[in-house]
Amino acid sequence: MITIISGTNRSNSNSFKVAKLCKEILEESQVASQIFSLENLPNDFLASEMYQDHSDHFQKTITQYIHGAEKLIFVVPEYHGSYPGALKVFLDAISSDDIMDKKTMLVGVASGHAGGIRPLGHLTDVLHHLRAEVFSRKPKLSYIDQLIDSKGEFDQKTVKSLSGNIELFLNY
Ligand SMILES: Cc1cc2nc3c(=O)[nH]c(=O)nc-3n(C[C@H](O)[C@H](O)[C@H](O)COP(=O)(O)O)c2cc1C
Repeated sequence: MITIISGTNRSNSNSFKVAKLCKEILEESQVASQIFSLENLPNDFLASEMYQDHSDHFQKTITQYIHGAEKLIFVVPEYHGSYPGALKVFLDAISSDDIMDKKTMLVGVASGHAGGIRPLGHLTDVLHHLRAEVFSRKPKLSYIDQLIDSKGEFDQKTVKSLSGNIELFLNY
């Protein structure tokens, strides 16, 4: 099982669309996957679930989406030159024991030209601090609005490139 984490709580985010594309790619390879969107975290999450003081519901979320996954794909939007605060809050709510030794792949999403290279670097540092493993290939989806048409379809070059990287991650 692979969990794809959509790394923002923003509604109608491009990150969630990319997470769905990752799921479709994994389905084509007949690999089981599930999407965990930070949008589904409770609104009072910052107060109610922090520092390993968890409700049963949140504990079940961690069990299903983190413990229950062999590997994790983080879809990481660029917000103010880094990854979203909501994602850091989520990581601060869990402990390194939850995520240690998991193999992760990071996919950057940005409206700008750098495809999230800075957020990917920042998140790599934090995941290594938590002793998770980060796959060296980190797809960067720059100018994301130009990669998705009005029907929500991605351009074929993006799909091909992301598929190739996910295939390599499956063998990682
Ligand atoms: C709070 C905020 C800050 C942002 N800062 C940046 C930025 O520093 N660089 C950039 O290229 N895009 C920036 N963006 C645009 C996002 O990269 C863009 O919305 C993209 O679609 C990924 O975010 P999304 O998954 O929320 O849609 C920002 C968006 C938000 C909401």
